[in-house]
Formats: sequence, C-alpha cells, structure tokens
Amino acid sequence: MVEDIRKLGNSSVLFIDGHLATSNLTPGRQVYGERLVVLEKGEFRLWNPRRSKLASAVLNGLDNFPFKDNSKVLYLGASTGTTPSHISDISKGGLIYCVEFSPRMMRKLVDLAQARPNMIPLLEDATKPRNYLHLVEKVDVIYSDVAQPNQTELFMNNMRLFLKEHGVGFLMLKARSIDVARDPAEIFREEESRLKTAGFRVLEKIDLEPYEKDHVALVCELSF
Ligand SMILES: C[S@@+](CC[C@H](N)C(=O)[O-])C[C@H]1O[C@@H](n2cnc3c(N)ncnc32)[C@H](O)[C@@H]1O
Repeated sequence: MVEDIRKLGNSSVLFIDGHLATSNLTPGRQVYGERLVVLEKGEFRLWNPRRSKLASAVLNGLDNFPFKDNSKVLYLGASTGTTPSHISDISKGGLIYCVEFSPRMMRKLVDLAQARPNMIPLLEDATKPRNYLHLVEKVDVIYSDVAQPNQTELFMNNMRLFLKEHGVGFLMLKARSIDVARDPAEIFREEESRLKTAGFRVLEKIDLEPYEKDHVALVCELSF
C-alpha cells in the first residue's frame, strides 16, 4: 500500500494508493459506506470525490485549502453529513456548525454528531441566517452546498454575518439549480460577477468535472 501525506494548506490529507483519505475521528465507523484503511499511524477513511464536491475540488487542483486542525466552519446544506464528516476528521480540534433544513436529513446528521463532538447540527434555513445568529460564532470558513436557485444570495448573506476577517468561503455552484435550459458557463460568469459587484474577491474557480457535471467551486473572500 503506497501512502503519501500531502500538505494541503496547514492540514494533512493523505493519499493512499492514489485515493484521497482523512484520518478517522471515530475508528471502526463508516459514514456513507466509504472504505476504511488501517495504517501504522491509525485508521483512515477514503474520501470519495463522486460523493463530496470538496474532494473533487482537491483532486482538480484546489490551491486554497483553509481547513486546519482547529478551524471553525459554518457548513450550509450539510445533508446527512458526507462532506462535513471529512471536515470533522481534518478539523478535529475545531467546530463545524452544520445547517440543514430537511428534518429527514437532520435525523441522520444528529446520529452522526453524537459520535463526533466537533459537529453541531442546526435545523435551520440558510436563507434566514439571522435565526441562528445567537447560535453560531464568527468562523474561519463558510462552505455552502445547497443546490438551490438562491444559492449565491444566501452564501453572500451568511459570509457577511459570520466570516472572520481573513476567512474564506466556498460556494459550490450547481448551474442546473439556477436554470436547466441555459449554458452553464454563462450562469457561472453571471454568478461570479454578482459576487464581485457585491464586494467579494474570487480567489479560485474550479470546474468539478468529471466528478460532478455542470458544477464549479468558487473560493471567495470578503473585501473588508
Ligand atoms: C447537495 S446536498 C448537500 C450535500 C453535502 N453538502 C455533502 O457534500 O455531503 C444539498 C443539501 O442542502 C439542503 N438545503 C437546501 N436548501 C437549504 C436551505 N435553505 N437551508 C438549509 N439547507 C438547505 C438540502 O436539504 C440538501 O440536504
């Protein structure tokens, strides 16, 4: 088995036989049927780029990887916790505030968070960030993956309320959620220009093909 620890920013993410992997915070437990691999330095969970857009962005050459051991993260659209669980492995000593508005997804997320004390599930609507203003502190990273027509708007509103100075935001944009009929490239240009007009700097734009069709990851910061 070939292991290769690559530094992504200040965090260690492992490549095992060419597969991305994170160190399992809850040894022996899988989250979404991913493979567990035991090495001398502990147990690792393979991180599937077809199930997690953050993994696909990493494999497609993402430069900005701000997740550190103690990062505080606000995650919008946490679903049943696939990607949040890998961030929970990486930011072991931090906190991941997981916003999800579907009670069905939330039930699984709550089960997951019982075993992972750095995950805080919040049954909230990400379009109404003021409703969780009293529950969430300022964070280092905002990660948004809601696949909704208003995805850029809600991302910007959460960034303005919760991002620390020098923090970074990830907007996982799905063109088909905005308009199924229009050219995705045109939609991405328009959303990027909305972000810039509103005072956001786009640091990186990563196409998520071949793992996700018509998706890009936009990495942004706020111009304070
Ligand atoms: C594409 S899935 C997220 C997958 C997840 N990010 C992952 O990688 O594991 C989108 C999720 O966003 C949730 N969602 C959509 N709109 C939302 C909103 N306004 N507030 C909170 N959650 C929302 C959906 O219920 C769904 O679970």
